[in-house]
Amino acid sequence: MMKMNFPIDYHDRKPLGKTGEKTSAIGLGTWAIRDYSIAEKVFIKAIEDGIDLIDTAEMYDSGNAELFVGKVIKKVGRDNIFVITKLLPSRFRTEDLAKKAAKNSLKRLELKYSDLILIHWPDYSVSIEKQVKNLEVLVDQGLTRYIGVSNFSKKELEEALWSLKRHEITVDQVRYSVLHKNIEKELLPYVLNVGITIEAYTPIEKGKVSNIPEVQKLSKKYNKPPIAVALNYIISRPMVVAIVKTERLDHLFDIEATLGWRLSEKDIDLLSSI
Ligand SMILES: NC(=O)c1ccc[n+]([C@@H]2O[C@H](COP(=O)([O-])OP(=O)(O)OC[C@H]3O[C@@H](n4cnc5c(N)ncnc54)[C@H](OP(=O)(O)O)[C@@H]3O)[C@@H](O)[C@H]2O)c1
Repeated sequence: MMKMNFPIDYHDRKPLGKTGEKTSAIGLGTWAIRDYSIAEKVFIKAIEDGIDLIDTAEMYDSGNAELFVGKVIKKVGRDNIFVITKLLPSRFRTEDLAKKAAKNSLKRLELKYSDLILIHWPDYSVSIEKQVKNLEVLVDQGLTRYIGVSNFSKKELEEALWSLKRHEITVDQVRYSVLHKNIEKELLPYVLNVGITIEAYTPIEKGKVSNIPEVQKLSKKYNKPPIAVALNYIISRPMVVAIVKTERLDHLFDIEATLGWRLSEKDIDLLSSI
């Protein structure tokens, strides 16, 4: 792959688009949780350690992931969490559908408002302009503080930005890992230009990144877990946060070992070339 030049971001707190707000460079995902009571302990520990970003969706476990996030927030306090939820694309076909879905999510989350609501992926049966119009209504109604998108390509994101009338798109949540670097070609340079945050999902490829020989070599060199090396690459990019899922304390410690240091430019280049 062609070598891309991105400046290294040394911050462990990252800007949310152009809002002036910041979140932790690592967020916790809630897809496919096996045991919610065990996960709750791990999430609370992560929040105590300074991770303040939680990602969920109405789709995850048919709403049960949102119920779980609601319980965690009750334990740690609303002000200590930045909550992202994602609504199904079909919800954005009309204003009423979007409002209803957002209210149902908020009921499960036991919240008055979400911090960020995303369109889970683009709906190909209505225009992006219409989807964005119905997304903006959610801010007008006080159901979310910010809005964003997920799985939007550069072209789709451009169209979304053209369609905006009153609010900003703060985030595009997309797949990004050392094994899945497509966004580095077009989308990442573009968001850096326009000031949108990338939320990288599946950033450890379900643990598979640990098996990469270059990652293992750097793990020895830096004396950090392989998972932390692979995540360090992701958060070294400006405007990028990583959303990782774990419900194991030992795995959380590997993830937290990502913070407080960065790979050298040469080692980032090494991972960028695989
Ligand atoms: N917008 C979208 O379309 C979209 C799509 C996919 C995902 N997401 C979001 O992004 C989040 C993360 O993505 P993901 O869940 O697909 O993948 P991921 O975070 O790359 O991988 C999660 C898996 O890796 C395991 N794991 C965690 N830490 C580990 C460690 N230190 N060593 C070895 N294995 C480890 C977890 O198991 P344990 O729990 O046992 O640790 C889990 O099975 C999701 O939960 C979801 O919130 C969004």
